Amino acid sequence: MTGHRFRAMECSWKAVLLLVVASLTIQYTAIRTFIAKPFTICRVPKHTGCGPGPSASCEPQRRAVSHILILATTRSGSSFIGQLLNQHSDIFYLFEPLYHVQTTLGAAGGGSRGRPSSSTSAAGRRLLLGAYRDLLRGLFECRLHELEAYIKPAPEQHRTQRLFRRGASKALCSPPVCAPATWTPRPPPGPGVRASDGEDDGEGPPSERWEEGECVRRCGALNLTEASRACILRPHVAIKTVRIPAIGDLRALVEDPRLNLKVIQLVRDPRGILSSRIDTFPDSFRAWKIWRNSGRRPYNLDASHLSATCQDFLQSVGTGLDRPGWLKGRYMLVRYEDLAREPERKTREMYRFLGVAMDTNVRRWIVRNTRGPGASGNHKFATVRDSAATAEGWRFRLSYDMVELVQSLCNLTLAQLGYRLVNSPEELRNTSVSLAEDRTFLPFL
Ligand SMILES: *[C@@H]1O[C@H](CO)[C@@H](O)[C@H](O)[C@H]1NC(C)=O
Ligand SMILES: *[C@@H]1O[C@H](CO)[C@@H](O)[C@H](O)[C@H]1NC(C)=O
Ligand SMILES: *[C@@H]1O[C@H](CO)[C@@H](O)[C@H](O)[C@H]1NC(C)=O
Repeated sequence: MTGHRFRAMECSWKAVLLLVVASLTIQYTAIRTFIAKPFTICRVPKHTGCGPGPSASCEPQRRAVSHILILATTRSGSSFIGQLLNQHSDIFYLFEPLYHVQTTLGAAGGGSRGRPSSSTSAAGRRLLLGAYRDLLRGLFECRLHELEAYIKPAPEQHRTQRLFRRGASKALCSPPVCAPATWTPRPPPGPGVRASDGEDDGEGPPSERWEEGECVRRCGALNLTEASRACILRPHVAIKTVRIPAIGDLRALVEDPRLNLKVIQLVRDPRGILSSRIDTFPDSFRAWKIWRNSGRRPYNLDASHLSATCQDFLQSVGTGLDRPGWLKGRYMLVRYEDLAREPERKTREMYRFLGVAMDTNVRRWIVRNTRGPGASGNHKFATVRDSAATAEGWRFRLSYDMVELVQSLCNLTLAQLGYRLVNSPEELRNTSVSLAEDRTFLPFL
């Protein structure tokens, strides 16, 4: 009896000390990140009680202090910016989880590639966006089970083989979710592998897509309970999506006191987006491809996707640059061209905005993947190697007529984002002048 009481006292004494240490740590974190809401959960031991020995019985369990959303569109470089977060060892990153909602509810409200389009009924649009927000909230709070309602076939015993692009998430391919590597990497296949059209976003170069496949083969079914635990153990959660049109659609999440949401909106020159989409989605962009190859504009050309992208940018960036109170400290605009031009500086700016210290994994990844030929490392990120030139590579792939059409459809967006218009084929091809004007978009702090 006395022994028991003594143990209990010792336990509470230790617990108090730990709480003091923990609260100091938390205060420090809070000051560092200007966030006042993180808290700890004292994990109560189930059977062992508070015995002598290592103080593991009351170890503070960290909760996410930042919820990061990459708001992007297809072919705007979102896979690249996602990697800058995925590589960080304190960040739990998910690549496009809303894909599953789209495939389930898509008939009700999905426009092209899951973005509610203008032709979608208002009710369908509201439904889809509401479902997107609900799932995002759950995932930011590490309830990965909330995905189960949308995954087909339905997971059994919380295990699934079908999480979309699971391999693009480092946390889901490493311990404790997946056993340590006991495999020898085979050399990736040559450049013949093409991103597929249709279902996915076609993001990521062949070498990375190959690594993703290896993860899926090696790790087997994903246990969503374990994935949720791995999420809780990392202080920050980041999610990338191309399925939400504008920052205004996220207002309910931004204002949700349970979250600490920070949104990085990634934009790119719509002329570059078009060029990249034609290469990546040959089926949907057949008419455009014909135009590009033959020089003759097909009568059935559908430019609605492009107008929609430009309208979404205009609206969303407009909201962001207006700096409404609810976005204070929560919105940053990044142009892909700036990221490609100065990846390290831009990445540092992003991390400063997020209030997260950059780690060496991220630095190393940038060096390995954005320097020109001659840099060490096997897996080059083909789309950003010699990245500044690649970002404007569309200037040689689109005809002047096509560029003119985009410029007339997207003139306001181009002006808003600081993309220069060209007025002649010569100007289009003359790369001594960049078409991305020097513009500084400071985060709204
Ligand atoms: C999934 O992981 C949890 C936690 O590790 C474990 O308790 C459960 O048995 C696992 N489920 C299956 C089906 O293996
Ligand atoms: C953009 O185009 C619209 C209609 O095509 C035109 O009315 C407007 O003046 C143009 N704006 C700019 C900034 O060029
Ligand atoms: C390209 O543009 C630069 C700057 O406007 C100009 O000086 C140069 O003559 C141009 N080159 C060609 C080949 O047109």
